[in-house]
Amino acid sequence: MKASDKYTAETITELYTWAPNLFSFKTTRSQSYRFIAGQFARLGVEGDHGELVWRAYSICSAPYDEFLEFYSIVVPDGAFTSRLAQLKVGDQVLVEKKNYGYLTTDRFECGKDLWLLSTGTGLAPFLSILQEFDTWEKYENIVLVHSVRYRHELAYQEFIHSFKENELFTEYAHKLKYVPLVTRDQAERSMLNDRITNLLTNGELEAHVGLPIDRERSRVMICGNPDMVQETRQILTDRGLTVSLRGKPGNLAVENYW
Ligand SMILES: Cc1cc2nc3c(=O)[nH]c(=O)nc-3n(C[C@H](O)[C@H](O)[C@H](O)COP(=O)(O)OP(=O)(O)OC[C@H]3O[C@@H](n4cnc5c(N)ncnc54)[C@H](O)[C@@H]3O)c2cc1C
Ligand SMILES: NC(=O)c1ccc[n+]([C@@H]2O[C@H](COP(=O)([O-])OP(=O)(O)OC[C@H]3O[C@@H](n4cnc5c(N)ncnc54)[C@H](OP(=O)(O)O)[C@@H]3O)[C@@H](O)[C@H]2O)c1
Repeated sequence: MKASDKYTAETITELYTWAPNLFSFKTTRSQSYRFIAGQFARLGVEGDHGELVWRAYSICSAPYDEFLEFYSIVVPDGAFTSRLAQLKVGDQVLVEKKNYGYLTTDRFECGKDLWLLSTGTGLAPFLSILQEFDTWEKYENIVLVHSVRYRHELAYQEFIHSFKENELFTEYAHKLKYVPLVTRDQAERSMLNDRITNLLTNGELEAHVGLPIDRERSRVMICGNPDMVQETRQILTDRGLTVSLRGKPGNLAVENYW
C-alpha cells in the first residue's frame, strides 16, 4: 500500500491481544500528523479484493507520543476488523492525514468534575485524554467509567492504575476514580455490575463515586455503544445538562461508534 496526498502508510510496531475479540496496536506516526486528545483517525486497510476499506478509530496514545496507538474490537465478518485482525508487526495501515472529532475537553468551560463514560472500545479516546496534564490540572476529580460485558474485557486496567505510580502524575493521581462495570459476569464484591444508564437512573453511580452529577460542577463525555450514548444523554439532559456546541459550551460531549 502506498502513501498518497490524503494519507500516509504507517507500520505496525506492536500488537497486544486482550481477548479473542479485542486487541490493541501501535503504529509509526508521521511527524506531520497532529491531533487533540479525544480525536479519531481514519484508518485504511486493503480488503479481500484489493479495495481500500476505511474506518474511524479513536487514538489512545497521547498527542505528544511518537507513535499512534489504537484499541480495536474484532467484529465477526466485519469488512475492516476481520482484515485488521490478520495484520502482524511490520505490516502497514493507512492513516488519513486529517484528524477528526469533537470529543475533546476544549469543548467545555471548566467545571469541577470530568466524567468519562464508556462502553467497550469507547474507552479509547479517554486513554488519550488521561495522558494530558491539562486535564488533570483543570479538574478536581476525573471519573472514568468503563462498562463491558465480561470481566476479561476490562482492558487497560494496569495502565489506568499506573497513574498512581507514575512520578509525572503523582500530585494528580488521587483525582482519578476508576469505575469498571461488568454487566454479564460475576463482578467482584466491591464493583457495581449494572449498565451506566441504570446506575445513573437509580443514583448508585454517583453514590459509589461520592460525587453528584449536576450542570454546575460536571462535564461529561460519553463514548461507545450508540444506544448507551443516546440513553445516557437523555438521562442527563433531563437533569438540565446540555450538549456543548460550537460557541455555546455546555456539559456534555458525545461520540457514537456505530
Ligand atoms: C468516531 C468513531 C470512532 C471509532 N473508534 C473506534 C475505536 O477506537 N475502536 C474500535 O474498535 N472501533 C471504533 N469505531 C468503530 C469502527 O469505525 C468500525 O466500526 C469497527 O472497526 C468495525 O468495523 P468493521 O468493518 O469490521 O464492521 P462494521 O461494518 O463497521 O460494523 C459492524 C457492526 O459491528 C458492531 N461494531 C462496530 N464497531 C464496534 C465497536 N467498536 N465495538 C463494538 N461493536 C462494534 C456494530 O454492531 C456494527 O453495526 C469508531 C467509530 C467511530 C464512528
Ligand atoms: N463481547 C462479546 O463477548 C461479544 C461476543 C460476540 C459478538 N460480539 C459483538 O461485538 C459487539 C459488541 O461488543 P461489546 O461487548 O464491546 O459492546 P456492547 O454490546 O456495546 O457492550 C458493552 C457494554 O455496554 C453496555 N450496554 C450496551 N447497550 C447499552 C445501553 N443501551 N445502555 C447502557 N449500557 C449498554 C453493555 O451492557 P449489557 O451487557 O447489559 O448489554 C456492556 O456492559 C456486538 O456487535 C456483538 O455482536 C461481542
